[in-house]
Amino acid sequence: QTIYLRDYTPFGWTVESVHLTFVLAPEATRVRSRLRFVPDPKAPAQEFFLQGEDLTPISFAIDGAPVTPEITPEGLRAKVPDGPFTFEAEVEIAPLHNTALEGLYMSRGMYCTQCEAEGFRKITFYPDRPDVMSVFTVRIEGGEPVKLSNGNPVGAGEGWAEWHDPWPKPAYLFALVAGDLVAQSDSFTTRSGREVALNLWVREGDLHKCAFGMEALKSSMDWDERVYGREYDLDVFNIVAVDDFNMGAMENKGLNIFNSSAVLASPETATDANFERIEGIIAHEYFHNWTGNRITCRDWFQLCLKEGLTVFRDAQFTSDMRSAEVKRIVDVIDLRARQFAEDQGPLAHPVRPESFQEINNFYTATVYEKGAEVIGMLKLLVGDDAYSRALDLYFARHDGQACTIEDWLRVFEEVTARDLSQFKLWYAQAGTPRLAVAEDWQDGTYTLTLRQTTPPTPGQPDKAPLVIPVALGLLSPDGHEVLPTTVLELTEAEQSFVFPGLAARPVPSLLRGFSAPVVLERESSREERVFLLAHDTDTFTRWEANRDLARACLLAMVTDGADPDAAWLDGLETVLRDASLDPAYRALMLGVPTQSDLAQALHDRGVTPDPEAIWAATERLRDARATRWAELLPQLADEARVEAPYRPDAAQSGRRSLGSAVLALTTRVDGGSAAEAQYDRADNMTLQLSALACLVQAGRGAEALARFRAQWQDDRLVMDKWFGLQIAASDPTETVAVTEALTRDPDFDWTNPNRFRAVFGALAGHHAGFHRADGAGYDLLADWLIRLDDKNPQTTARMCAAYQSWRRYDPDRQAKMRAALDRIAAKPGLSRDVTEMVTRLIA
Ligand code: ARG
Ligand code: ZN
Repeated sequence: QTIYLRDYTPFGWTVESVHLTFVLAPEATRVRSRLRFVPDPKAPAQEFFLQGEDLTPISFAIDGAPVTPEITPEGLRAKVPDGPFTFEAEVEIAPLHNTALEGLYMSRGMYCTQCEAEGFRKITFYPDRPDVMSVFTVRIEGGEPVKLSNGNPVGAGEGWAEWHDPWPKPAYLFALVAGDLVAQSDSFTTRSGREVALNLWVREGDLHKCAFGMEALKSSMDWDERVYGREYDLDVFNIVAVDDFNMGAMENKGLNIFNSSAVLASPETATDANFERIEGIIAHEYFHNWTGNRITCRDWFQLCLKEGLTVFRDAQFTSDMRSAEVKRIVDVIDLRARQFAEDQGPLAHPVRPESFQEINNFYTATVYEKGAEVIGMLKLLVGDDAYSRALDLYFARHDGQACTIEDWLRVFEEVTARDLSQFKLWYAQAGTPRLAVAEDWQDGTYTLTLRQTTPPTPGQPDKAPLVIPVALGLLSPDGHEVLPTTVLELTEAEQSFVFPGLAARPVPSLLRGFSAPVVLERESSREERVFLLAHDTDTFTRWEANRDLARACLLAMVTDGADPDAAWLDGLETVLRDASLDPAYRALMLGVPTQSDLAQALHDRGVTPDPEAIWAATERLRDARATRWAELLPQLADEARVEAPYRPDAAQSGRRSLGSAVLALTTRVDGGSAAEAQYDRADNMTLQLSALACLVQAGRGAEALARFRAQWQDDRLVMDKWFGLQIAASDPTETVAVTEALTRDPDFDWTNPNRFRAVFGALAGHHAGFHRADGAGYDLLADWLIRLDDKNPQTTARMCAAYQSWRRYDPDRQAKMRAALDRIAAKPGLSRDVTEMVTRLIA
């Protein structure tokens, strides 16, 4: 049941070609396959086994002669000739009843597929593993007006269409779509002159939400040519929007399939944050064409090979398209919230896991986001120039192959002549390293001593020192930079770095740009942080100084009932008043650590976190800021105002994000009148939604919520916001009741993953509401996870992570969360996905 990286063995045959014919019918789709197998002399001898699940077998033949293979719940076994042979199969499947949304399924009358990681085996019998790559020809028969598959269209007629993909690919990149769709079309000419037809396929009513996605696609194609020298390689690039989808999107060769929430946007229905996310995901999936498709993974343990690199590339793209400084801070906030939390709990695993039961459970923040951080560190260590030469070599050497992390690191070793064996530990060792800092100052020499430790994680009690790039700057006491950003390479458990010849004791600005995904444990004084907040030249560490101050302030408020830190608020006010600073950056400065982050910080200090006390302190701080800045807020609101017609670009979005942070504070003093005015005149979703959130928070939301619903009743994506917002903005005493009531709403279609996540993601994300002392939050979520598991194990399993920090709370809450997990574990017929998650959670 558990699969290990060390057990890898190649498949015994290569698949020369794949021919598939689909005769579509909702409850009885016929899939005929013709596969040409050639023995692989390099592979060990083995019996012939093809994966296949939930398939109704119809007939099989080898070289034209009927055969009767042995069929098991996992696949089929057959006796095959010694040399090359042709294997044919016909099976039947029922896309209409496929509620797991894996394999071929239906979403509101439209056929679509999701095959990564192991969904192709639910379509037909096949060696469903990423290192088996083949050339696919696909024929689709059915009455749907639009019928799509990978590659280029090669023929179509009444009731049929044929596609041929010349690029060998693993089965997980197979896709098929059929339905009543319309396209927003455009074209892109690659720099070597290939004319590519671009189509974004949607339902008729969504056509007005396609323009932005199309622009993002063209920008991505252009960027990958300019920055990585990567061109597109087919005559057509299709994107399809699907309403029922477990994840964000999927990079199927030439036919990307998107969760509609990750591609559809109009100013009236999508927020600035939605637009930015869409731009990033379109880029991500497009970039996979090279990092994932042309070069794929040998096995699923290598998932970070494509995902870490592609996340890294999409972050570079967003930094280029928007503000690099803002993007970095936003990514670090996200990394800490999702990946650090994972690393600190029972679900911790290495960037390259060594075992799994269900690979879908490893599409995680660790594999994706920490995987991208590892590449960022590598680039910082070898330099930009070596990075781009290594990438050129990677593409040249491995095009058309299924690769490993070893292949990836080798190109860097060859280009730089560096030994990366210690660096490679980042892929193998789970947990977030802690970095302790000691300083010494004598006779003009400043000495910085760094000590690294990585706490134990499941299955990994002892950790070795990693290679940690620590970007450092030094500031003189009068606020000048005396050492510009320098990258220190920490390789030992403890190491000192010496800076002689300084006129005065410097103030260190450490981990600039968040140069490594570590926790800096440095008990610096408040004065020093306030100094960095005022003077640091690195925008990340300047923001970080503010965040450290905010956290220290909140922790003191929670544990000692202290008043908000006036020295910090004064320093912050100076920053807020600095009109030369990007409004988006100032909005980030107004943010405070999440309540879950504070809970972890308390836990790290040996204090059991009390969610209600954390909530109360956060509220008290917000109220104090609102009163203190009563005169500053209108001024900031003026600066944040956008007069020009709506555009979701960085400049306008930045202003609106400052505006909404200001509105949230203003609502605390004016009781919601500014929010009401904004709600009434809003002509875009960003302003409408931020005003609505303020009104709900102020207890004045009822009427606006009703109007909002009446206005957006027919727009699923907007209604997801309506559901989520009421929970997110609820008072913690009501969060569970609000959630409960919403589950009884006629529009609560719980089988739709977006809707389910809108509701239960908001519940789990409401720290004080979810962790209500009587355990009602835990129980409500468990009830619904138990119900969803029968339909959709993947989405259920992902949401089990809501309980991942259960061990940091008091014994009473722990017992209640444990009971909820036990109840899930005891469900008869629990899926493999959820079984693995719950087992890890309670281990
Ligand atoms: N490869 C996709 C992406 O990152 C994610 C698809 C994962 N799907 C899944 N069911 N595990 O873009
Ligand atoms: Zn990806």
